[in-house]
Amino acid sequence: MIRIRTLEQYQTEYQKSVNDPEGFWAEQAESFRWHTKWTQVLDWNFRQPDIKWFVDAKTNITENCLDRHLPQRANQIAFYWEPNDPKEKQVEITYQQLFDDVCRFTNVLKKKGVRKGDRVCIYMPMIPELAVALLACARIGAIHSVVFAGFSANALAGRIQDCSCCMVLTSDGAYRGAKDIPVKQVVDEAIAECPTVKNVIVCKRTQTPVVMKPGRDTFWHEELVDVSTNSPAESVGSEDELFILYTSGSTGKPKGVVHSCGGYMVYAQYTFQNVFQYNEGEVFWCTADIGWITGHSYIVYGPLLAGATSVMFEGVPTFPDCGRFWQIVDKYKVNIFYTAPTAIRALEAAGLDFVMPYKLDSLRVLGSVGEPINVEAWEWYNKNIGKEKCPIVDTWWQTETGGILISPLAGITETKPGFATLPLPGVQPVLVDEKGQIIEGNGVEGNLCIRFPWPSIIRTTYGDHERCRQNYFATYADLYFTGDGCRRDEDGYYRITGRVDDVINVSGHRIGTAEVESAINMHVDVVESAVVGYPHDIKGQGIYAYIICVNERADVEQLRKEILAEVTKIIGPIAKPDKIQVVRGLPKTRSGKIMRRILRKVAEGELSNLGDTSTLLDPAVVDEIVAGALK
Ligand code: PRX
Repeated sequence: MIRIRTLEQYQTEYQKSVNDPEGFWAEQAESFRWHTKWTQVLDWNFRQPDIKWFVDAKTNITENCLDRHLPQRANQIAFYWEPNDPKEKQVEITYQQLFDDVCRFTNVLKKKGVRKGDRVCIYMPMIPELAVALLACARIGAIHSVVFAGFSANALAGRIQDCSCCMVLTSDGAYRGAKDIPVKQVVDEAIAECPTVKNVIVCKRTQTPVVMKPGRDTFWHEELVDVSTNSPAESVGSEDELFILYTSGSTGKPKGVVHSCGGYMVYAQYTFQNVFQYNEGEVFWCTADIGWITGHSYIVYGPLLAGATSVMFEGVPTFPDCGRFWQIVDKYKVNIFYTAPTAIRALEAAGLDFVMPYKLDSLRVLGSVGEPINVEAWEWYNKNIGKEKCPIVDTWWQTETGGILISPLAGITETKPGFATLPLPGVQPVLVDEKGQIIEGNGVEGNLCIRFPWPSIIRTTYGDHERCRQNYFATYADLYFTGDGCRRDEDGYYRITGRVDDVINVSGHRIGTAEVESAINMHVDVVESAVVGYPHDIKGQGIYAYIICVNERADVEQLRKEILAEVTKIIGPIAKPDKIQVVRGLPKTRSGKIMRRILRKVAEGELSNLGDTSTLLDPAVVDEIVAGALK
């Protein structure tokens, strides 16, 4: 695998990847362990879509994450695990220990009857067993579907049902900051409606008492008694499914994004090494939760494939105080630190008193992911955390892309605040106008599409290939559509401007407005609702909900509370609206379509210049909405 070291080399590699993509990726894939080599590097069309990388090859990603490294790295730390409470002891896990743990747990899964191709749901806090769970599934070719442990029972049930999971891996409880969360209880509630689940394995973390259903539920540590560490990796096809990860779109229920083994593996390692410029012996820390794609690719797979040492953190940036991240950076002498703009803004707001006590002199590279980073936050991060000597890699990508697509290479690409800069080798972005025409040249803006497949591109949406085609490949012929707006400046640098569909990005979490609306509409007093995003100082975007009630309720505050509870129950606390305005009508066109443009403007605080409202069925509703707009 080529490690790029200079800008010139980046340019040469980029050209190679465009002129001869197959040759380029075959070269990157050479250094992996393949049981059977590919007969063809790439076979694809974006119309169906049907995309295959390393056709007919066989491998196992865990053999490349673990077995491959043992001769040189058995005693090297794979993970430093830092608990939620700094008073609790950290755990150090070497590559040998991780290998043994994964093999043992693989044998537990086998004992329970889990086979290649089966779906296993993982609903766990950020404890080492979570990483073990993913890898054990992958080792036998079972497909993992990790659900972020902040989602509600209802949301979890929907995800388990959608892909018919046979098993759920979970914990008794979770620590998150000062909170103690009853995880197993959520699972119990969820699987009451999931007949496909035959087994639940519960890892003890908080010692919270739990109800164990005989014949279905067992404890993790009990399962491990007398289990062997001998577990050769299953040979799986390059295009066999590795995992499903649910994400929100502009319509309907969250969709199960499917990634396959071979291409994802090659791309995860390639991007990890090149974007972060990881050097042997360094400590990498990605603060994401493994419940999101960032955690899959840059806590578990990318770093392990590269034989890196990483930090895995159970807690939150604000507990016990807002200096926690910086304390952890000093404690493990973290060299590469990767976080989200929301965290940066929240810690900036907390003040420099929380930063000053820490040296932060081990830091060499800083990263940002998940949402556009505003220039102010970028400058603060650069000055106060990076001390103006650490390159910042603003990495743009998505659940569907599997790995980073547009980003500086640390220390190689000249950065510019707010810009994800240039595409990685193998990535061919184009900007498209409303008519679907590709916009050439620089100093332009349009919808961001990618015109050629990269190895970790989404293969399908689980159980509904047509939905995948519709969502990503039907808007513009022969292009993958990202759903993001983007500007390409005079230097050819890319700046992502945000979603152009009905998806909002709250604290780096993707939330579909339609999903929030249907949760709000479950409240008995609500007839209809419309949800839009608005700029929020810390979260990037906040959620603004307009609701119409059956009967006017005098106790609006109580109503708001009930709606927040409803959304928490149906989706989870991350989707709670920040503002709820009760209205008597929504601005609709004569054909019944809600004019969201107007609602967005009002939510943004733009109460005049609302544009043309003459096509509205009842323009008077707009005046009423403006009059009642929330600050
Ligand atoms: O809008 C873009 C934004 O996050 C979306 C993808 O969300 P998700 O699938 O949850 O994955 C997040 C982590 C990869 C994108 O469509 N986004 C992600 N990274 C950036 C970003 N927006 C601007 N700049 C980024 N660096």
